Amino acid sequence: MNYKEIISKIKSVRNYKNEEISPEKINELKDYFNKGKRLIEDIEIEVLLKNKSEVYEQLKDSAGYNEFMLESPHYMVFLSEEKDHYIENTGYAAQDIMLKAFSLGIGSCWITFKDGEAIKNKLNINSDKKLTALISLGFDNNKNKVIYETIYEHNPTKTDVKVVEDNVSYRLGIRDIVFMKKWGENADPDELVNIGLLEGFVSAGRAPSTRNRQPWRFIVDNETIVLALRHDSYANEYEEKIDTAVIMLYFEAVIDSTMFDITWNFGKPEKNYEIPDDYKIVGYCIS
Ligand SMILES: Cc1cc2nc3c(=O)[nH]c(=O)nc-3n(C[C@H](O)[C@H](O)[C@H](O)COP(=O)(O)O)c2cc1C
Repeated sequence: MNYKEIISKIKSVRNYKNEEISPEKINELKDYFNKGKRLIEDIEIEVLLKNKSEVYEQLKDSAGYNEFMLESPHYMVFLSEEKDHYIENTGYAAQDIMLKAFSLGIGSCWITFKDGEAIKNKLNINSDKKLTALISLGFDNNKNKVIYETIYEHNPTKTDVKVVEDNVSYRLGIRDIVFMKKWGENADPDELVNIGLLEGFVSAGRAPSTRNRQPWRFIVDNETIVLALRHDSYANEYEEKIDTAVIMLYFEAVIDSTMFDITWNFGKPEKNYEIPDDYKIVGYCIS
């Protein structure tokens, strides 16, 4: 899969054609899932592919932003064993399948939820595993109007669910999300080119996040790349973990394919980076 190209094009699809995906493509996705990328190898996850009739009415008013459930011909339901970082592990694998689906012409969108057990009950899923992701799947209806939630970082009171005409969502620039050596020292893209990291950060900046808050910031400190995540009242712990995993995948997939292999570690490095109180270091890697 050409991660760089797919990441540059993918967007959330919230309005789907009334058309089913062929069994061949569904099988291709299933195969991919069985071989796909994992953040942690020894956590068992499974994905159930379900049709609209098995999910949509059942979850109407109980999943999605402000309980706005997305209507789509198919859904992927992820279940995981409960182990350290199991939510991040699903986030990483699920986003990887969403990228694969996009490469096959299939659109998708994350659907958030608060109570995984209640959702399992509504979907008649009898499993000891935890519900870790819910994703809509189908062909993009190419309608410009999408239901979309905007948060303005500096004016959070403007939060609302609204219909926007333009479905290309805005992203922060590289200088806003990458710091050099210490917090607040905005990165110079030329310098990032020299150290081979610019493409990785450009892709990382394209990562989807809960309510498009783009809560992640990086500090590049020689070989160490530190990932910090903002904690705010617009995302819950589950959503923060998925946001973390997704950006780890976007950065890693592109760096791995262009330069060298990196591996993310959870937690923080020994050095104190003196980051603001509303951020926390969630992981780091060595380039
Ligand atoms: C953890 C997570 C949960 C999300 N939940 C929803 C949701 O419930 N409904 C929705 O319409 N979009 C949801 N999204 C999609 C984001 O709003 C979307 O990715 C972001 O606004 C960026 O837009 P883009 O994906 O089109 O680039 C979610 C994304 C993430 C990462």
